[in-house]
Amino acid sequence: MAGRASMTAWPAEPPPPGDVRVAPEGTFATWAAAELAAVLCALARRPPTSVSLALAGGSTPRPVYEALATAATVPWRCIEIFFGDERAVPPDAPDSNYRMARESLLSRVPILDEHVHRMRAEARSPEEAAREYASVLPKAMDLVLLGIGSDGHTASLFPGADTLRATAAVVPAMGPVPPRQRLTMSPSVLAAAHRIMVLASGLAKADAVARALTGSWEPASCPAQLARRGTWLLDAESASRLPAGLCRPSSTGRERTG
Ligand code: 6PG
Repeated sequence: MAGRASMTAWPAEPPPPGDVRVAPEGTFATWAAAELAAVLCALARRPPTSVSLALAGGSTPRPVYEALATAATVPWRCIEIFFGDERAVPPDAPDSNYRMARESLLSRVPILDEHVHRMRAEARSPEEAAREYASVLPKAMDLVLLGIGSDGHTASLFPGADTLRATAAVVPAMGPVPPRQRLTMSPSVLAAAHRIMVLASGLAKADAVARALTGSWEPASCPAQLARRGTWLLDAESASRLPAGLCRPSSTGRERTG
């Protein structure tokens, strides 16, 4: 039995790559929004009809969220919003993930205020804020939306970080670039999630995407491998280092079963 220190929330053996889809040229944001909308609608049709959605931060999601806000089919009244990670900045700071989501999506859709759970990463005690946030999380998130950094991080799970061995659901984290102090969902939340979807666009992500999906199984050095089983929504550039045959033809927002 591995010692507690070396226990991890991921399997010893790698899962097969999930569903890897590539947007038609020049359509990434609207295409990814349609894919997301289809999944949210499908989740809302299954009992219970409430859907827990953890949003990704960074810059990639903004145009996707703006397009998602115009999708008429999404049943926003039964969706609860969480955040995969947050920087230790006020909610109105330019680099707040909450501010980005509110500007691009949450202020534009009929979501109930009480259904938006902001991560208070700027709290004086990050540990207390992490515990508080973990207490409002569902046991298993219906859908976790993630991004990927060029170094292979996802959420604020960075290569080689102690957070990768966290047993708590939400933990303080330290990023390599400012704002360094953050809160992040831990690998256990990703492992428990019913569905994971990863958004990645641009050539700068191509190597990290290829490593996450096809590299040797080392989540400690490429945390985005924790999302390997998920649905990856890519553009031609971010998919450009993947082996032929791994990517499926892009859909037009049709939800696949399974
Ligand atoms: C964050 C995100 C982070 C992001 C990647 C990609 O708070 O920055 O959670 O994991 O998804 O760093 O960021 P970009 O979309 O800006 O490339």
